[in-house]
Amino acid sequence: MKVAIGSDHGGRNLKEEVKSLMDELQISYEDVGCECSDSVDYPDYGIPVAEKVANKEADRGIVICGTGIGMSIAANKVKGIRCALVHDLFSAKATREHNDSNVLAMGERVIGPGLAREIAKVWLTTEYEGGRHALRLQKISDYEG
Ligand code: RB5
Repeated sequence: MKVAIGSDHGGRNLKEEVKSLMDELQISYEDVGCECSDSVDYPDYGIPVAEKVANKEADRGIVICGTGIGMSIAANKVKGIRCALVHDLFSAKATREHNDSNVLAMGERVIGPGLAREIAKVWLTTEYEGGRHALRLQKISDYEG
């Protein structure tokens, strides 16, 4: 599995935590930025991550900002993206099993690094269940056109 990961300045520290988790899990990733500590605009990093997933340059994406909200809104504008904003372990598992979410959004100012690492680990290692959920996802794809 290859993961595209990006953050704004508000999510940069948590991005490093998640990268270190992926090193431990031997999951390859591409960091699209940001590298700076200055204020940047989250769509400049969230949309490229989502596009890499949509274009199949990456299997999954992880986007992080202060709240995770801006990143999730931006990522979900890209066709084919199912970005889930997650701050608890139950949702991390459920959104993979039920929604086949292909991008995970988290907020560095919302949760601590320990919980964020656990969420990312569960999300990265949980499989989509398919079955009854497939028709629901198809309805979203149909609406998207
Ligand atoms: C940046 O200050 C902050 O607005 C951003 O990281 C994010 O929380 C937006 O949703």
